[in-house]
Formats: sequence, structure tokens, C-alpha cells
Amino acid sequence: MVNLEMTTTGDGSHTLFNSQTGEHYHSIHGAIQESRHVFINAGLKGIAPHSEMIHILEIGLGTGLNCLLTFAEHQMLAKPVTYTACEPFPISKSLVDALNYCRSEGLRGFEPVFSAMHENPDGKILLGNDFLLIRLLSGIEETEPAEGSFDLVYFDAFSPEAQPELWKPEIFSKIRRCMKPGGVLVTYCAKGLVRRTLQQAGFSTERLPGPPGKREMLRATAI
Ligand SMILES: C[S@@+](CC[C@H](N)C(=O)[O-])C[C@H]1O[C@@H](n2cnc3c(N)ncnc32)[C@H](O)[C@@H]1O
Repeated sequence: MVNLEMTTTGDGSHTLFNSQTGEHYHSIHGAIQESRHVFINAGLKGIAPHSEMIHILEIGLGTGLNCLLTFAEHQMLAKPVTYTACEPFPISKSLVDALNYCRSEGLRGFEPVFSAMHENPDGKILLGNDFLLIRLLSGIEETEPAEGSFDLVYFDAFSPEAQPELWKPEIFSKIRRCMKPGGVLVTYCAKGLVRRTLQQAGFSTERLPGPPGKREMLRATAI
């Protein structure tokens, strides 16, 4: 039985600790701070000027924090988004209700959206007018997304030590196939082995400064 325990991170936002992997869902230095840095600033903001409609794939929806921040950002960008997210282990409604993200700067008033995101763990949910969330109750290894369809991938699995099967060449090759050329994958992990595996799968890679508490992160571009 997996136990998920809620804790408060350095910036005051919540995260969850998973007893099975022994890892938190986000950096303990700041969950919102990390998600904004890695996924919004290094990912979404870079590709948005080049896409009329933005197609995003997330590996590991978890609390939905990345999706919520993306929803908030898409309103400012005024661009439609489709957001496909794999999550084989959806969190309970009581945990969703207890998470404090919608009390943070820039996310106040988003409670109905955050709640709606978790209503259907295996189906489509329209958030606002033009943000379509497609939730898949399957892991990335069992998912076959359409080829050449994504502009941006948020790779937010547990670490290579906790879940080595998700950081393998065949997973990154599958992800590369479902991305558009020039599409971008971002991840908090900057390990050399992950960088080389991404390169072998058909990406060029850059090491970028990481969020507070972490020296580096990776951004990979589909060649
Ligand atoms: C580090 S947490 C990421 C949290 C999430 N992005 C958030 O903001 O809360 C990793 C997530 O990957 C999910 N996961 C586990 N196995 C997976 C798989 N095979 N495919 C996709 N996601 C998986 C976990 O349940 C967990 O929610």
C-alpha cells in the first residue's frame, strides 16, 4: 500500500511524499518555484511564440501543479492548449482539496479549474474555453501517442534511481516519435546518462541552470 504524505516546501507550497519510491513529487526547496522554473519558464515560454495552438504531453500529472501553472500561463498567452497527461496513480479527492496551490500568487481564484482537472482520471476535460486536458490512466510505457503531435513534453517522472524503467532509451525514442521536429522536452533531471540517452533518441540537449537547490536541469530539442 503506497502512502502519500503532504508536506510544505521552502516556498510555502505543498508537495507529496511517496513512501514507495521514497521521493517527493517536487523539490522540497519550493514546489511552485521548481515547476515554474523547469516547465513554464524553460519549456512553455520558449515554444509559445512559435505555435498557434500548443500541444503538450506530461509524464506524471501527479498533483496537477504543472497543468495548473500551464493553464494560468495560457490565459496570458491567449493561445489554445491541448494537454495530454499520463498518470496511472491518480491522487485522492481529499488530497486534491487539501493542496494549497490556489492560495499562491498568480493562482488565486483557480480552485474550480484545479478541482475540475481531477474529476476524470481517464478522459477529456475542457478547462475554460480552449484548454483541453486529456488524462490517460496508463503509464507512458503503455501509451502510444500519435506520431509528430507534441510541441512540448514535461518529463516529470520520479528519478532514474526510483523508476529506472521510465528513463530508458525505448521510452525517450517513443517520446521523440510523438513530438514535432523542433519540439522541446524539459526535465528537472540533469544526469549525464539521461542526457546521453536523450541524444541517442534523436534530441539535441542543453544543460540550463536549475531551480534553487539544484545546479542544473535539461532541455532537449527534437532534431
Ligand atoms: C515526481 S512525481 C511528478 C508530479 C507531478 N508532475 C506534479 O506536479 O505533481 C511523478 C509522477 O509520475 C507518476 N507515474 C508513476 N509511474 C508512471 C508511469 N509509468 N508513467 C507516467 N507517470 C507515472 C507518479 O504517480 C507521480 O504522480
